[in-house]
Amino acid sequence: MFNLDMHTHTTHFRKRKVKEIILRAMDRGCHGCVSTEHFHSYPPGDFVDNYRRFADMAGEEGFVVFEGAEITLQHMDFLVYGLNMEEILDAGSTKTIKGLIERVHSYGGILIQAHPLRKMKRTIELKMDGWELNGREAKEKNIALRGLGEALGLLITAGSDAHRGVGLGTVFTSFEEQPKDNKDLVDMIRGNKHQACI
Ligand SMILES: [Fe+2]
Repeated sequence: MFNLDMHTHTTHFRKRKVKEIILRAMDRGCHGCVSTEHFHSYPPGDFVDNYRRFADMAGEEGFVVFEGAEITLQHMDFLVYGLNMEEILDAGSTKTIKGLIERVHSYGGILIQAHPLRKMKRTIELKMDGWELNGREAKEKNIALRGLGEALGLLITAGSDAHRGVGLGTVFTSFEEQPKDNKDLVDMIRGNKHQACI
Protein backbone atom coordinates (compact mmCIF):
# COMPACT_ATOMS: atom_id res chain seq x y z
CA MET A 1 0.00 0.00 0.00
CA PHE A 2 1.08 3.57 -0.60
CA ASN A 3 -0.41 6.25 1.63
CA LEU A 4 -0.76 9.89 0.56
CA ASP A 5 -1.97 12.81 2.63
CA MET A 6 -4.09 14.54 -0.04
CA HIS A 7 -4.53 17.97 1.59
CA THR A 8 -1.49 19.82 2.91
CA HIS A 9 -0.31 23.42 3.16
CA THR A 10 3.38 22.82 2.83
CA THR A 11 4.44 26.47 2.52
CA HIS A 12 3.75 26.99 6.21
CA PHE A 13 5.75 24.01 7.41
CA ARG A 14 8.61 25.63 9.27
CA LYS A 15 11.76 25.08 7.28
CA ARG A 16 13.91 24.06 10.22
CA LYS A 17 11.34 21.43 11.20
CA VAL A 18 10.56 19.92 7.82
CA LYS A 19 12.66 16.83 8.40
CA GLU A 20 11.05 16.24 11.81
CA ILE A 21 7.53 16.74 10.38
CA ILE A 22 8.17 14.32 7.53
CA LEU A 23 9.73 11.65 9.72
CA ARG A 24 6.73 11.84 12.07
CA ALA A 25 4.33 11.45 9.10
CA MET A 26 6.33 8.46 7.87
CA ASP A 27 6.11 6.94 11.35
CA ARG A 28 2.32 7.21 10.95
CA GLY A 29 2.58 5.10 7.80
CA CYS A 30 2.32 8.01 5.37
CA HIS A 31 4.59 7.77 2.30
CA GLY A 32 3.94 11.14 0.70
CA CYS A 33 1.49 13.96 0.14
CA VAL A 34 -0.13 16.17 -2.43
CA SER A 35 0.88 19.79 -1.86
CA THR A 36 -2.43 21.66 -2.03
CA GLU A 37 -1.42 25.19 -1.16
CA HIS A 38 -3.99 28.03 -1.40
CA PHE A 39 -3.62 29.07 -5.01
CA HIS A 40 -4.75 32.66 -4.61
CA SER A 41 -2.59 33.42 -1.56
CA TYR A 42 0.64 33.75 -3.56
CA PRO A 43 1.86 35.28 -6.80
CA PRO A 44 2.04 32.44 -9.39
CA GLY A 45 5.87 32.32 -9.30
CA ASP A 46 5.92 32.00 -5.50
CA PHE A 47 3.21 29.33 -5.62
CA VAL A 48 5.39 27.18 -7.89
CA ASP A 49 8.62 27.94 -5.98
CA ASN A 50 6.99 27.03 -2.65
CA TYR A 51 5.92 23.68 -4.07
CA ARG A 52 9.35 22.93 -5.56
CA ARG A 53 11.20 23.89 -2.38
CA PHE A 54 9.11 21.54 -0.24
CA ALA A 55 9.16 18.73 -2.82
CA ASP A 56 12.97 18.91 -2.92
CA MET A 57 13.34 18.87 0.87
CA ALA A 58 10.83 16.02 1.21
CA GLY A 59 12.49 14.08 -1.59
CA GLU A 60 15.75 14.04 0.39
CA GLU A 61 13.89 12.07 3.07
CA GLY A 62 12.25 9.72 0.57
CA PHE A 63 8.83 11.38 1.02
CA VAL A 64 6.99 11.70 -2.31
CA VAL A 65 5.22 14.99 -3.14
CA PHE A 66 2.64 15.38 -5.92
CA GLU A 67 1.43 18.65 -7.47
CA GLY A 68 -1.95 20.04 -6.46
CA ALA A 69 -3.75 23.17 -5.30
CA GLU A 70 -6.61 24.40 -3.19
CA ILE A 71 -8.53 26.95 -5.23
CA THR A 72 -11.15 29.19 -3.67
CA LEU A 73 -14.00 30.57 -5.76
CA GLN A 74 -17.28 32.02 -4.52
CA HIS A 75 -16.48 31.07 -0.91
CA MET A 76 -15.95 27.41 -1.79
CA ASP A 77 -12.64 25.53 -1.63
CA PHE A 78 -11.71 23.06 -4.35
CA LEU A 79 -8.85 20.58 -4.32
CA VAL A 80 -7.29 20.06 -7.72
CA TYR A 81 -5.50 16.80 -8.52
CA GLY A 82 -3.87 15.37 -11.63
CA LEU A 83 -2.49 18.63 -13.06
CA ASN A 84 1.13 19.71 -13.27
CA MET A 85 2.16 23.18 -12.10
CA GLU A 86 1.80 24.75 -15.54
CA GLU A 87 -1.72 23.37 -15.90
CA ILE A 88 -2.61 24.48 -12.37
CA LEU A 89 -1.49 28.05 -13.16
CA ASP A 90 -3.79 28.06 -16.18
CA ALA A 91 -6.78 26.44 -14.44
CA GLY A 92 -6.39 28.77 -11.45
CA SER A 93 -6.80 31.81 -13.67
CA THR A 94 -10.46 30.96 -14.36
CA LYS A 95 -12.95 33.18 -12.59
CA THR A 96 -16.01 30.93 -12.33
CA ILE A 97 -16.58 27.54 -10.72
CA LYS A 98 -18.05 26.16 -13.94
CA GLY A 99 -14.98 27.40 -15.85
CA LEU A 100 -12.65 25.86 -13.27
CA ILE A 101 -14.37 22.47 -13.47
CA GLU A 102 -14.22 22.50 -17.27
CA ARG A 103 -10.57 23.55 -17.33
CA VAL A 104 -9.47 20.91 -14.79
CA HIS A 105 -11.38 18.20 -16.66
CA SER A 106 -9.87 19.32 -19.97
CA TYR A 107 -6.43 18.52 -18.48
CA GLY A 108 -7.66 15.12 -17.30
CA GLY A 109 -7.74 16.15 -13.64
CA ILE A 110 -10.37 15.94 -10.93
CA LEU A 111 -11.88 18.49 -8.58
CA ILE A 112 -12.72 17.42 -5.05
CA GLN A 113 -14.61 19.69 -2.70
CA ALA A 114 -12.52 20.45 0.39
CA HIS A 115 -14.23 20.16 3.79
CA PRO A 116 -17.61 19.63 2.05
CA LEU A 117 -19.69 19.78 5.24
CA ARG A 118 -19.62 23.55 4.84
CA LYS A 119 -21.43 23.53 1.47
CA MET A 120 -22.68 20.02 0.74
CA LYS A 121 -25.56 20.79 -1.56
CA ARG A 122 -23.40 22.77 -3.95
CA THR A 123 -21.18 19.76 -4.74
CA ILE A 124 -24.11 17.93 -6.20
CA GLU A 125 -25.54 20.95 -7.99
CA LEU A 126 -22.15 21.63 -9.55
CA LYS A 127 -21.62 17.96 -10.51
CA MET A 128 -18.18 17.91 -8.97
CA ASP A 129 -16.05 14.77 -8.87
CA GLY A 130 -16.10 14.16 -5.16
CA TRP A 131 -15.72 15.00 -1.52
CA GLU A 132 -12.81 14.88 0.83
CA LEU A 133 -12.84 13.57 4.36
CA ASN A 134 -10.99 16.39 6.10
CA GLY A 135 -8.69 15.64 9.00
CA ARG A 136 -9.90 18.69 10.91
CA GLU A 137 -13.49 17.39 11.03
CA ALA A 138 -14.87 15.03 13.69
CA LYS A 139 -14.44 11.37 12.75
CA GLU A 140 -18.18 10.61 13.10
CA LYS A 141 -18.99 13.37 10.62
CA ASN A 142 -16.45 12.01 8.16
CA ILE A 143 -17.90 8.51 8.49
CA ALA A 144 -21.40 9.85 7.70
CA LEU A 145 -20.00 11.88 4.82
CA ARG A 146 -18.28 8.83 3.35
CA GLY A 147 -21.53 6.83 3.43
CA LEU A 148 -23.54 9.58 1.80
CA GLY A 149 -20.86 10.38 -0.77
CA GLU A 150 -20.50 6.75 -1.82
CA ALA A 151 -24.27 6.41 -2.15
CA LEU A 152 -24.22 9.46 -4.43
CA GLY A 153 -21.46 7.95 -6.56
CA LEU A 154 -18.88 10.59 -5.57
CA LEU A 155 -15.15 9.96 -5.37
CA ILE A 156 -13.93 10.10 -1.77
CA THR A 157 -10.41 11.16 -0.74
CA ALA A 158 -8.90 12.03 2.63
CA GLY A 159 -6.30 14.53 3.76
CA SER A 160 -5.17 16.20 6.97
CA ASP A 161 -5.43 19.85 5.86
CA ALA A 162 -2.26 20.35 7.92
CA HIS A 163 -1.21 23.99 7.93
CA ARG A 164 1.78 23.89 10.28
CA GLY A 165 2.99 20.39 9.65
CA VAL A 166 2.08 18.90 13.03
CA GLY A 167 -0.88 17.00 11.57
CA LEU A 168 0.84 15.80 8.40
CA GLY A 169 -0.12 12.18 7.74
CA THR A 170 -2.75 11.90 10.51
CA VAL A 171 -5.33 11.28 7.75
CA PHE A 172 -4.46 9.90 4.32
CA THR A 173 -5.65 8.15 1.19
CA SER A 174 -4.30 4.67 0.67
CA PHE A 175 -3.45 3.39 -2.83
CA GLU A 176 -2.77 -0.15 -3.99
CA GLU A 177 0.65 0.98 -5.18
CA GLN A 178 2.65 4.18 -5.62
CA PRO A 179 1.12 6.35 -8.38
CA LYS A 180 3.71 6.92 -11.12
CA ASP A 181 2.74 10.56 -11.65
CA ASN A 182 -0.15 13.04 -11.34
CA LYS A 183 -2.13 11.42 -14.14
CA ASP A 184 -1.70 7.95 -12.71
CA LEU A 185 -2.82 9.29 -9.32
CA VAL A 186 -6.21 10.46 -10.66
CA ASP A 187 -6.61 7.34 -12.81
CA MET A 188 -6.30 5.28 -9.64
CA ILE A 189 -8.85 7.46 -7.84
CA ARG A 190 -11.28 7.26 -10.76
CA GLY A 191 -10.76 3.51 -10.86
CA ASN A 192 -11.45 3.26 -7.13
CA LYS A 193 -8.02 1.78 -6.48
CA HIS A 194 -7.84 3.82 -3.34
CA GLN A 195 -9.30 4.05 0.15
CA ALA A 196 -9.85 7.16 2.26
CA CYS A 197 -8.41 6.36 5.71
CA ILE A 198 -9.56 8.49 8.63
FE1 LIG B 1 -6.90 23.56 3.13
